[in-house]
Parts: sequence; structure tokens; C-alpha cells
Amino acid sequence: MNYKIALLKGDGIGPDIVDSTLSVLDKVAARFGITFTYTPYLMGGCAIDETGVPLPEETIKGCLESDSVLLGAVGGPKWETLPGHLRPEAGLLGIRKAMGLYANIRPVRLYSALRERCPLRSVEAFDIVIVRELTGGIYFGERGRRQGANGEEAYDTECYSTTEIERIGRVAFEMAGMRSKRVTSIDKANVLESSRLWREVMHRLAAEYPDIDYSDMLVDNAAMQLIKNPAQFDVIVTSNMFGDILSDEASQLTGSIGMLPSSSLGGTKRGLYEPIHGSAPDIAGTRTANPIATILSAAMMLRYSFNLAEAADAIERAVEGTLDAGYRTRDLGGTLGTDEITAKILELI
Ligand code: IPM
Ligand code: MG
Repeated sequence: MNYKIALLKGDGIGPDIVDSTLSVLDKVAARFGITFTYTPYLMGGCAIDETGVPLPEETIKGCLESDSVLLGAVGGPKWETLPGHLRPEAGLLGIRKAMGLYANIRPVRLYSALRERCPLRSVEAFDIVIVRELTGGIYFGERGRRQGANGEEAYDTECYSTTEIERIGRVAFEMAGMRSKRVTSIDKANVLESSRLWREVMHRLAAEYPDIDYSDMLVDNAAMQLIKNPAQFDVIVTSNMFGDILSDEASQLTGSIGMLPSSSLGGTKRGLYEPIHGSAPDIAGTRTANPIATILSAAMMLRYSFNLAEAADAIERAVEGTLDAGYRTRDLGGTLGTDEITAKILELI
């Protein structure tokens, strides 16, 4: 079987972590008798430099014609002063939207080998999945500048429709059904109208899934509870912006933001797979970035988009084995570079 993978390497450490992941994919391909064809496309700062826009039409077309997309990271100081719609990040939001990827799945798991990297003094084992709404909310609402009574103003709008809330809610309830059957929906319903609608819709869904233990939590409390007792959570479902913030927070419980993969899915099997971290311009080109989040994202691609569970398991086991053997990149307190940790993972596949 041949799978067509579109590559969006992006900026900063993006090319390094994607290249490392391709060597892992090639290794599982050889072992399991699969082939992958890779086609690179420009997106983000590199696309701005080459074409003047962060998301060229050709990139959208290529991604839509692929079986799935593997993404590194975008952005950097070079493009920070551009207007919002021309920044690298607009390319990322644009491709998520163009592919209709409304469900961003971010598993948060503490490997036993990394227990000492978790900043909590005592922590019960936890295994959380954050289900983040990805194509709505304040990221995509009306925004702008205007003249107000006291001079210039700027505004961004959080807007959610019942349909958008319901479809992300279903992803969370279905996922909880396959796990420990708990859903926590995180909102700010004591202040925001959009959160009140969010909560109403979630309650309707909860009634449809009586075997799921459902609860609501306000986002400020959730930020605290994640640190106080992460083991209380199983599936978290939340809006685009709250999910962005809480997943960075949760990543620290696993030792490093360099550990968290993600998959973004919509109505089809075609997904976009990317680490949750950014392009780390400070270490770009040093080949010291931790590629594990991207490698684990590729494993998610094999599992969710291609139904290659065995190959996905092989990657995940190799990552775990590498950590168990004590190999660490710098973000995890070690000294290995991108290529060295990749070589260790390859040995175990
Ligand atoms: C993420 C990132 C992006 C987001 C940025 C780079 C636009 O922080 O994937 O979490 O906010 O979604
Ligand atoms: Mg983020």
C-alpha cells in the first residue's frame, strides 16, 4: 500500500523535526512493507519568503490531494511585524480551515521514564486527551481595529454555533467511550455567552451518552486543577483558545512541550499531524530540537488516517524504549541532539 503524505516543514526547527520523522517513517515502511511518497509544500514564513503569502493555493491543493499532511512548525521573529493576515500563523490557521479539521486531538501522557521531569512533587499516573475545537471561536471570529471614543480600539470575537459545538462534543464523547468514560468540558460560562451556549449543547449531548461521566469546569479552575490533580481528567473538550492555552500548560506535566503530538481531523480520514509546540527560532539550525512530538504525531497519522496500528505501535514503543534507556534531548535535561535521539529511536524500530 502506498500513502501520499504532504509535508509542510515550515520554519525554525520545523525542517529538522520533520526530516527526523521521515527517517522514522521510512524505517517502519521498510519493516511493514508499506510505501510513503512525500511531497513538500510551502506554508508559513518560508512561503512568505518565496511567494509573498503564507498559504499558497498550490499548498492547499496539494494537501487536499494527499492522504494526510505532516507539519513541522511555523513562525519566527523575521515575520512578526507583518499584518495579521500575512503572518506565518495565518497560513497554519488557513490550512486547518481549508481542510475542515475541526477536531484537534492532543494526548497528554507522562512516560514513566520522565517521571522526574514532571514539576509536580507527587503525581499519580495520568493519561489525558485534550479535544480542542480548531476551526471556530475567537481564532476565526470577526476582528479589527476602529476608532472609539478614546482613540484606537481593537477587537476579536468569540462566536460558536450549535453545530460547531455539537460536532466537537461528539468527538469527545465518542473518544471517552473508548477510554475511561469521563468527559470534562471546559468553558467560561459564568461570563461568556458563547460558553453558555457551549455548555447547553454539551448537556444535551451528555444526556445522549448516559454511560459517560460528564462534568463542566470553568477554565480558570481547570488551569488550577490540572496542576493540583491531573489524574482527575480523562477527556477534556474545550474551545480553540482555551485548548491552545491548556495544552501548553498540560505539556509541562509530561516534562517538556517537546513531547506532545497532535492530530487534526474533520469529516474524513485525511488529517493534519503536527507537534503542539512552535518553531523555536532560538534553537533553529542547531539540530538540538526534540523530534519526539513530531515522531509521535506521525504515529498518530498511521493509526488514525491509515489504520496502521501495528506500525504506530512500533514507533510509540521505540520512543518509550529510548526514554527508558535514559536517552534525552536538551529540553528533557539531556545532551543528545535531534539526529542522535532519532538514531536511537530508529535502532528500536
Ligand atoms: C498551536 C499553536 C498555534 C495555535 C499558533 C502557532 C497559531 O500555538 O498549534 O497550539 O494557536 O493554534
Ligand atoms: Mg499553542
